[in-house]
Amino acid sequence: MTMILVTGATGNVGRPLIDLLVNEGAGVRAVSRDPGAAGLPAGVEVVAGDPSRPDTITAHLSGVTSVFLNPRAVGTAAGELVDLLKRHEVTRVVTVSAINCDDDPARQPSRYRGELNKEVEDAVVGSGLEWVSLRSSLYASNGIGQWAAQIRAGDVVFGPYAAATAAPIDERDIAAVGARALLGDGLLGRRVELTGPDRLTQREMVTTIGDAIGRSLRYQEIPPDGARNAIVGIGFPEGFADALLAMQAGSIERPAPVTGEVATILGRPALAYARWAADHAEAFQRSAA
Ligand SMILES: NC(=O)c1ccc[n+]([C@@H]2O[C@H](COP(=O)([O-])OP(=O)(O)OC[C@H]3O[C@@H](n4cnc5c(N)ncnc54)[C@H](OP(=O)(O)O)[C@@H]3O)[C@@H](O)[C@H]2O)c1
Repeated sequence: MTMILVTGATGNVGRPLIDLLVNEGAGVRAVSRDPGAAGLPAGVEVVAGDPSRPDTITAHLSGVTSVFLNPRAVGTAAGELVDLLKRHEVTRVVTVSAINCDDDPARQPSRYRGELNKEVEDAVVGSGLEWVSLRSSLYASNGIGQWAAQIRAGDVVFGPYAAATAAPIDERDIAAVGARALLGDGLLGRRVELTGPDRLTQREMVTTIGDAIGRSLRYQEIPPDGARNAIVGIGFPEGFADALLAMQAGSIERPAPVTGEVATILGRPALAYARWAADHAEAFQRSAA
């Protein structure tokens, strides 16, 4: 049986990926820093490890043929981790990456949270192993962190750049493509650019969430300086705030791309933001506060 080691197993892509792999009958070994709290399905072997410290992964590679990497979990250890995989029986590595990973780092907020998508992708591409990189657009679930607290409190969402664009992708679609990349050969050697089906402005995303919860929500634009203070005030690094604002401003001048890769690969349309919002309505409803 195929044995797949999944890092970031408890994350946005990891959870739906594991459900799909289990349904397909693959063996899954899930890495978590806190296995007791992982809450993964029966049949998944959950092991303690931290991919940013590859020595904690070594013991879990026995019998593993494929590995799924989450750069957030890998941190700065990509080179060391890939070298470790090559010394074992691993033949394939699939990584999460980002559609903007070749952009100016000053417009990549994720880098300021230690998510080195480009470096992890480069390590995977240069590994000599079979590889696939899932370069995805903005995750739909970012909307929870960005807006849920405000939406639970009232009908006005304050934020910068109402006209900033993205083609938000439902993480279940990234997971579905990830399962194809791990279990089939059709995507090998590709940096696949994955997006949601539609380009939306921030104002439109908030309105869509409002439709899903039966409320009329309004996005009230605030100046970038005020937004920067607010982002830093809740604990994000200054570099993150600056890069997020620069990315959003840039997406007005150069609207976010929409690719048809999800539909082409999966043979069905990519999940719409409205569907994501309906499935996550609880996060935005007042009773969830
Ligand atoms: N959010 C977006 O819009 C977006 C868009 C494109 C690409 N990406 C990329 O997708 C990747 C995943 O991002 P995400 O925000 O969705 O994260 P996530 O997958 O929800 O990340 C959390 C996962 O990483 C694991 N992890 C291990 N070490 C960690 C650490 N030091 N800090 C936090 N988590 C750690 C956690 O496992 P345990 O806690 O169980 O150990 C958990 O499973 C990132 O590389 C990101 O840049 C994100």
